[in-house]
Amino acid sequence: MKRESSHSVPDNLTIGASDGKLAVLTPGIGAVATTFYAGVFAVLRGLAKPIGSYTQMGQVRLGKRTENRSKKVFELVPLASLDQLVFGGWDVFPDNAYEAAKHARVLDGQLVEQLKEPLSAIEPMPAVFDRNFVRRLDGPNVKKGPNKMDLAQQLRRDIQDFIRRNGCSRAVMVWCASTEVYTPATAVHDSIKTFEDGLKNNDPAISPSQIYAYAALCERIPFANGSPNITVEMPCIQQLAHEMHTPICGSDFKTGQTLMKTVIAPGLRNRLLGVAGWYSTNILGNRDGEVLDDPGSFKSKEVSKRGVLNDIFSADKYPDLYKDIHHVVRINYYPPRGDNKEGWDNIDIFGWLGYPMQIKINFLCRDSILAAPIVLDLALFMDLCKRAKMRGIQEWLSFYFKAPVTNPGLAPEHDLSVQLLKLENTLRFFTNEELINHLGLTYYGIDEGPDGSR
Ligand SMILES: NC(=O)c1ccc[n+]([C@@H]2O[C@H](COP(=O)([O-])OP(=O)(O)OC[C@H]3O[C@@H](n4cnc5c(N)ncnc54)[C@H](O)[C@@H]3O)[C@@H](O)[C@H]2O)c1
Repeated sequence: MKRESSHSVPDNLTIGASDGKLAVLTPGIGAVATTFYAGVFAVLRGLAKPIGSYTQMGQVRLGKRTENRSKKVFELVPLASLDQLVFGGWDVFPDNAYEAAKHARVLDGQLVEQLKEPLSAIEPMPAVFDRNFVRRLDGPNVKKGPNKMDLAQQLRRDIQDFIRRNGCSRAVMVWCASTEVYTPATAVHDSIKTFEDGLKNNDPAISPSQIYAYAALCERIPFANGSPNITVEMPCIQQLAHEMHTPICGSDFKTGQTLMKTVIAPGLRNRLLGVAGWYSTNILGNRDGEVLDDPGSFKSKEVSKRGVLNDIFSADKYPDLYKDIHHVVRINYYPPRGDNKEGWDNIDIFGWLGYPMQIKINFLCRDSILAAPIVLDLALFMDLCKRAKMRGIQEWLSFYFKAPVTNPGLAPEHDLSVQLLKLENTLRFFTNEELINHLGLTYYGIDEGPDGSR
């Protein structure tokens, strides 16, 4: 069913129709991707509700509070509906999505069997893979080519063939593959030109995720990065997104422990409570945990997880409260738990006159259950961005990321509630609705002086 949307848009903004099928392409057909595909199939069959998905369940308040007006997100903006989505992807393992979902052991076996038919139809295309970037994995379903530019061209052909074979009118790409070893930008990432030369010369600093992003953007397909890889932080990728009039966003899906951090840390800062230390540790037993057991891949995760508190507790503004925070993040690979991660946080805080207190959080979460609705929302919103002719970094989607990418010089916003305000206001902007600043003084009034001054 195609959803009716009675949207109107600002004069200078037109949003293309959401007609036709939307290809959702995921590099990586592992725990997160299969939980996402299976979830959409389950919702379409009436087996489950899309819990955790803002695009499917969220509501946006419109106008003044006294108007009592709100709309469901999918009624407000013209999003693709779930039955318009067609899934495809790449993986280094040849397992189809049914086999991969069974391997991931996120969903119960009965549900996976009920969805066997649509899941089995999703066969991974051969991956662009380089063990130097993911040392703990090796698989046979990998592309071969004389250089990285040739691999990028093969990906472009995969995308074109997929769209044609499935009769899709457009596509988005959401990176759901493993975390790569942390490798900062080098001179090869400076510009589109240096990057393209590097692809031809097999520059060792170009990682597979960058090759996928390059291929997607050359096809003018939006690219969202769900891992801590710094793919969309690279200047060449940002320039290419701009030049190809195509949106990008990232990085690292904000699930479990960091989701909690970006709820609690802004609260502590807003009440001016000091923090002496924040110790976070996790046990995790899925393939992601195995990959992160490698120090190089963990470094990527650590950088994206640690940045959050530095930005929220700006020590330069509040040295008395936050200058000496000891922030420790650990992820321990522990196979018995599979995808059911357990996270512990110990927060040492101090209040009035410096008196110490402690907060303990023990989150028994399900990693991919938290990540899957984010993949869905990003796919639908990135498609919306493209149809609204938005290009480059989509900061309004920071809500979904641990390490939101911003334009150079802009500090990222980590506070989950501020991120939601940004997202909601962007949807209001798309539909020509009044932006809401929560000042609220119009409900109360301010006394005027005898001369009419305030
Ligand atoms: N689950 C979460 O809550 C969560 C949160 C934030 C970020 N992430 C990130 O999402 C990504 C996926 O997580 P997951 O739990 O599904 O991991 P997973 O290990 O189950 O799946 C990743 C898949 O990617 C494949 N892969 C690796 N390199 C590839 C390449 N170059 N091309 C194609 N396929 C490749 C692997 O073979 C694997 O099947 C990871 O980077 C993870 O860090 C997950």
